Amino acid sequence: MNLKLWLLLLFLCAAIVPAQLKKDKHNEHDRHGKHDKHERHGEHGHGMHGKHGKKEKGRVKDLIAEFDVSDDSSDDDDDDPNDWLFELQDVRGKCTPNPCQNGGVCEEKRDKFKCKCPKQFRGRRCERSKRVCMRGTCGKGLCLLTQNPPYYTCKCIPPFMPPNCKIFSPCTPNPCENNGKCVKDEDDFDCVCENGFKGKYCKVDPNDCYEGDGESYRGKVSETEEGDECLDWNSEFILDKRSFPSNVFASSTGLGPHNYCRNPDGDKKPWCFVKRNKRLRWDYCNVRKCPTPATTTAKMVTTTAKPQPITAVPPGNTTSTVTPQTTSLPETEIVPTKSEAFTTPESFTSTKGITSPQLTVSPHNATSLSRSFATCGKPQPKKQLNRIYGGLKAIPGSHPWQASLQVKPKGSTQEYSHICGGTLIKSCWVLTAAHCIGRNQDYRVVLGGVNLGKNEPADQTLQVENAIVHENFKETPHVVYNDIALLKLKATNGECAKETQFVKTACLAKEPFADGKECSISGWGATELSDYGSIHLLDAQVLLISQEACSSNKAYAALLDDGMFCAGYLKGGVDSCQGDSGGPLTCERDQAHYIYGIVSWGDNCGEKGKPGVYTRVLKYMDWINKKTAEGA
Ligand code: ARG
Repeated sequence: MNLKLWLLLLFLCAAIVPAQLKKDKHNEHDRHGKHDKHERHGEHGHGMHGKHGKKEKGRVKDLIAEFDVSDDSSDDDDDDPNDWLFELQDVRGKCTPNPCQNGGVCEEKRDKFKCKCPKQFRGRRCERSKRVCMRGTCGKGLCLLTQNPPYYTCKCIPPFMPPNCKIFSPCTPNPCENNGKCVKDEDDFDCVCENGFKGKYCKVDPNDCYEGDGESYRGKVSETEEGDECLDWNSEFILDKRSFPSNVFASSTGLGPHNYCRNPDGDKKPWCFVKRNKRLRWDYCNVRKCPTPATTTAKMVTTTAKPQPITAVPPGNTTSTVTPQTTSLPETEIVPTKSEAFTTPESFTSTKGITSPQLTVSPHNATSLSRSFATCGKPQPKKQLNRIYGGLKAIPGSHPWQASLQVKPKGSTQEYSHICGGTLIKSCWVLTAAHCIGRNQDYRVVLGGVNLGKNEPADQTLQVENAIVHENFKETPHVVYNDIALLKLKATNGECAKETQFVKTACLAKEPFADGKECSISGWGATELSDYGSIHLLDAQVLLISQEACSSNKAYAALLDDGMFCAGYLKGGVDSCQGDSGGPLTCERDQAHYIYGIVSWGDNCGEKGKPGVYTRVLKYMDWINKKTAEGA
């Protein structure tokens, strides 16, 4: 998924994605690879970096390079009201809940909404900041947004000095806090902390630690596991990329005008954004987990600390189950006994009349029938507020039907690697793209997890018994026709996928959704941050584009048939990409999520006038019902 127009993907060949994804995982230079390394050491083990991590030396040079404005790669793609897609893709929506971010005031106009943005924000939802700082205004410092004129302030990163962060002067003024002593080291400085304080600037209290997943963490660690200094949450660099649509001036999630690590989006521990290679990235923080059981010495934790898990699910347990919960306690992981985790046949009838698709199941499959999923299309994300979207990270549980289709050469002992996405539509059935299915390969499907790089408690790994490719599937150099396939999962004791908070089916749509509808795509495909795919599941919102508009000469002209539709965003930008294929485009109706499209093809990724093309699942409903009935 990506947010911006990016051309790098021209070079990316779909065939190398799986191999590269795997490589990526172990690559020293890759953020995620590093996570894996850290986690093997144990995430509670390393505490703070002491006064300096390995990044410290050469920091001045790093800062000069990182904040050099001469070739700032951040894009500046102002909205163009004349864009041909603009009108067609207008989101239908109203003001409840308020879609406007950052204090924007919502006005309803007919069936639509309009956000009146505060001066320093722009975008349809006031999700992006305006360029409040001219290039170079803040020298080698950060441009931070403020609420009042001139709507920005420069934050110099020591040893650079105010007001313009252009001159450096180590130790004057003393950047070390809590009586820390500043020791010059050529152009740079070291803080020697007192009384157990830690961190680059001795800001971190000795008792600083996080509990649970760190959602309630309000401490002062501002450094990543890699030793990068976090960006302030109100940095223009974050906000002008529309990547973090949160209200940074008034947030109950602990975000604010500071650069302390937080976990506002249900991740596993506090994290923050960093600027690396002039690009926006995020990473987990070098913050310590409080010793368990939580003690009262954990000073940095606010009173909103949430209940601790009753039982931990051991990593690598592929059959772990988590009780389907009500939304009031979404973060408490209670591991039930096997029988508790499943619903009785009565629960087949879902509330609000949303039932799983009517698939005929033969009598010998009665066991799997009785163990079928209670409902479809009802995610229970870990946290619904302040999510990060637009291609950064999906919240665990927000796309519980998302599957990772993984392959290895038939009969080999090689590791499986991700090749495509898929959608769980029934306990034993995953929908994917036909072009994902090749010959001589062993397939498996991983459900539940968000991080491809490790075994997660929510993971359910299932072998694929049979892959059914549409009879009329055809690939030409420009178009893929009837790009749909079904994967029959291998059952163990009469059951395949088990319903948990993190594994659920998507509903199959019975009616079309209107053009302009905002729908959701998700996947581990290539991004602007990684050409080879993301190790973390990403999601984004896209708008359904009318067949007519997408068949115009400015788009795909005569290439589309009625088994395809386009979805995308204004002038490009948000899109699916290589590695996302087969994955879901879901749309919501009456609080249920329906699988409406399968990521199929597109001209490059995120290009203007070339939105993603999706298999029109609705057209294939009879085919799906027939195949699943036959294969049951
Ligand atoms: N064919 C790609 C894959 O195999 C998906 C491409 C989607 N492209 C797009 N611009 N939306 O992963």
